[in-house]
Formats: sequence, C-alpha cells, structure tokens
Amino acid sequence: MASEQTQQAGEDGGVATAQETLSITDNRTGETYEMEITEGTVRAMDFRGIKVNEDDFGLMTYDPAFKNTASTRSKIGYIDGEAGILEYRGYSIEQLCEHSNYLETAYLIVNGELPSKDEYAQWEHEITHHTYVHENVKKLMEGFRYDAHPMGMLQSTVGALSTFYPGANNITDEHEQHMAAVRLIAKMPTLAAFAYRHNLGLPYSYPDNDLSYPENFLSMLFKMAEWKYEPDPRLARALDVLFILHADHEQNASTAAVRNVGSTQVDPYSAIAAGVSALYGPLHGGANEQVLRMLDRIGTTDNIPDFLEGVKNREERLMGFGHRVYKNYDPRARIIKHHVDEVLEVTGKSPKLEIAVELEKRALDDEFFTERKLYPNVDYYSGLIYEALGMPTDMFTVIFAIPRTSGWVGQWLELVKDDEQAIARPRQIYDGYREREYVGIDER
Ligand code: SDX
Repeated sequence: MASEQTQQAGEDGGVATAQETLSITDNRTGETYEMEITEGTVRAMDFRGIKVNEDDFGLMTYDPAFKNTASTRSKIGYIDGEAGILEYRGYSIEQLCEHSNYLETAYLIVNGELPSKDEYAQWEHEITHHTYVHENVKKLMEGFRYDAHPMGMLQSTVGALSTFYPGANNITDEHEQHMAAVRLIAKMPTLAAFAYRHNLGLPYSYPDNDLSYPENFLSMLFKMAEWKYEPDPRLARALDVLFILHADHEQNASTAAVRNVGSTQVDPYSAIAAGVSALYGPLHGGANEQVLRMLDRIGTTDNIPDFLEGVKNREERLMGFGHRVYKNYDPRARIIKHHVDEVLEVTGKSPKLEIAVELEKRALDDEFFTERKLYPNVDYYSGLIYEALGMPTDMFTVIFAIPRTSGWVGQWLELVKDDEQAIARPRQIYDGYREREYVGIDER
C-alpha cells in the first residue's frame, strides 16, 4: 500500500517544484519518494534516503567507469556528442583554430576570458620566461635507459617538479596557483623535448625566447649545430592548431585523474603527473601512437578488408575510432584531417594517409561501425601530422600532453575553488567473502 506521505528523499528534505521532480516508489516498502531534478541530474546522495528500515544504509548508484555520472560542475569545456560540438569557455574550436593561437587559448581556458592585448603580452612574457627547468631535472633524465618511453619520462619529471616548488603545496594561495599554471604550461614542452633528445642521445636544445610557443618546441626538438633553428611557419601553425584542439575535453579520463588526485589537496604538479599517467593509456591519449602502428601493420589498402574482419571478430580495435561522448564525427578529427593535407604539401606525401582515408571510408560504409556510432576521433589523423613533422611514434602522446596541460590546470583550479568538492572517495558493492576463520598453513 503506497504511503499517503510522499517522502522527500533529499538529505535536507527540500521541497522540489512538482514538474522538476522524479517520483520513485520503493516496492520493497511501498514508500514513494520525490527527488529534485536539477540540470538533467538527480543528486546521488538523495538515494540514500531510500531505506527499508532505519538501520538501512540506504541506496547507492552503481556506475562502473562512470558512464553516466556527473562528478563536478565546470565552465571550461562543453561537448555536444550527438551534434559533434566542442567549445572552450563558450568559443567553438573552429573559431579558436581560425582566429586564435594555443597560448591565447590556454589563457582563456585557465582564466575564463580571452586576454586583452596587455594581458596577452604579460601572459606570453611569463610563459616564455619560465620554459627552463632546474638543471637537476637533466640528471633525473639521465637515469632512464636510452630507450625509455618518453611518456614514462614525462610522468616522472612532471611529478618531480613538485620537489622544486614546495610553495605549490599552498594550493589556495592565488600567487602559487598562478605560478603553477605558468610553470606547467611553460615547462611541459621543455620536458617533452628533453625526453626526445635523451632517446636520441643528443645534447639538450635549450628554449629560444625569440620563438613562439610551437616554434620553440620544434627548436628544442630538432635544433642541431645551426646557430638558430628556423621552423617552417606552416608546420609551426599546424602544430599550434593541434595544440588548440587538444587543450581540454571536459571530464576525460586524464582530467578526471587530475581532479581525483587533486581532491586530496596535493600540489598541482603531483595532480597533473597523474593526468600524464592516465593519458599514457592506449585507450586514451596513447591511441594516436597505436593508430600509426595499426596503419603500419595494415601496410597496404589491399589488406584493409582482412583487417576490418579482424576488428569485427574482436581480435583488435580500430584505433582512433569511437568515443565515449561523441556519437558523431569528432569535430577535432575533421579539422585535423584538413591540416594533414596542408602539412603533407610541405613534407611530402605519406603512404599511410592513403591507407587511413580508405580505412575510414570502408569503416563508415560498414554497419558494424555505424550501428555502434564509431567515427574517427581526435587521435585518428593527428599521428600522421606528427610523423610528417619528423616526430617518432612514441612521442605522439607526449605531444598530446603538452596542450592538455592547460585543460588539466584549468580544471584543477576549478576543483580547488569549488566549495562543493571534497576528497574523491567512491563507494563499492562488496561481493567477496565475509567473517572467515584464519587457517594455519599446515592445515590448508
Ligand atoms: C581520447 O574522453 C575523452 O574525451 C578522450 C579524448 C580527449 O580529448 O581527452 O577524446 C581523447 O582518448 C580519444 C579516444 C582514443 N581511443 C581510441 O581511439 C581507442 C579505440 N577506441 C575505443 O577503445 C573506444 O571507442 C573508447 C575507449 C574511445 C570508448 O570506449 P567506450 O565508450 O567504453 O565504448 P565501449 O568500449 O563500451 O564500446 C562500445 C562498443 C563495443 O562493442 P559491443 O561489445 O557493444 O558489441 O563499440 C565497440 C566495443 O567493442 N568499440 C569498438 C571500438 N570502440 C568501441 N570496436 C572496434 N574498434 C573500436 N575502436
């Protein structure tokens, strides 16, 4: 018998307006509960009010991999997965790629607004003059094998930065917050380039303050005996657009890792080192590296049908395809594909591009992929540009980490200023043994 009394399930029993509520009947007790619906969500804690008796802990929500859980509010990245829309602070990536540059976009992501001329000049000056790292970081790098994966080196050296700036532990201090943002955005390319040079056994090429952010990165990678490295402006611009496209992407796995670790009030360098580690995974940022290896394995367009059969038989995944949020073409992939042609005009044709284009075409003609709404994502074409720029495959994810640092920093700043947040500590469904008696080893 349903209770006449409709219980307010919320913690505070706040009264919701009739049309913005969820009415739930617990058939175990016949009780009916009303939950407030706000911004398309119900508060998970409201389920705790649904009990079978006063001793009952109450209901929890169960959501492996957080496929349907909003863990925070944010004002930084907006994605419409069905429409294939991505905006940073309300500006479309298409506009930012056409009119802005990465450093200005990073300012927008971190500070919330596009900078004035003076603000941009100050920001550019600060970033340019914080690109050096402590000389001891080089000694840390020297401890790695010559063939250490550069992402492994990056996650270690980013974390090590926390030991050089102990003031960063004052996570609520605005000056320390600003300096951490500047240092991380400024030093990530230096750490990335040092890792690359370590792999090649080359001396480090130090930052050149006369160059722009992407030009300086290319110089630290490729400068040899010449007095001054002169990057091709078309390649520098293509890299700058790639940096813009990779800057933020709402609560992706690595950003969620930064927020989770940052929720313990650890310093931002340690929190962002966690983001680097998460990005390393082949299902996340590591996919761009796997796409090139996949295209190498396919070898020619003749092998595409057999490869796709293998994917459909679950022998492997079509790397660079699919997305948790985009159920349409990733808007970033569309822009990157356009720049691939521009870069290859400078660097020369790539046989892998022909395979990638034909593979995309065949996949999008195949209902296995279209039924599952699997389209090219940001990683499908980006590796072709990095390869054309002369980067080795294991550097691709490192290059993803450079611009994503501004998104990680922006989201970390939101976290530390959000009064609703606390230490992240999910619950579980326990389905293991209980109350067992210890048995000595001789009796087992
Ligand atoms: C990034 O989150 C972000 O925003 C990430 C990112 C960012 O900017 O931060 O956009 C960057 O990480 C892009 C994604 C790069 N990863 C890849 O390209 C790796 C290949 N893609 C997948 O592994 C997969 O699509 C994910 C990980 C991206 C998404 O996985 P989901 O949402 O958990 O989807 P799923 O694994 O549940 O797959 C749903 C179905 C399954 O088939 P069924 O078992 O239901 O029959 O689609 C299939 C999967 O087997 N599937 C694929 C596939 N991706 C999903 N089958 C073949 N090839 C694929 N690539």
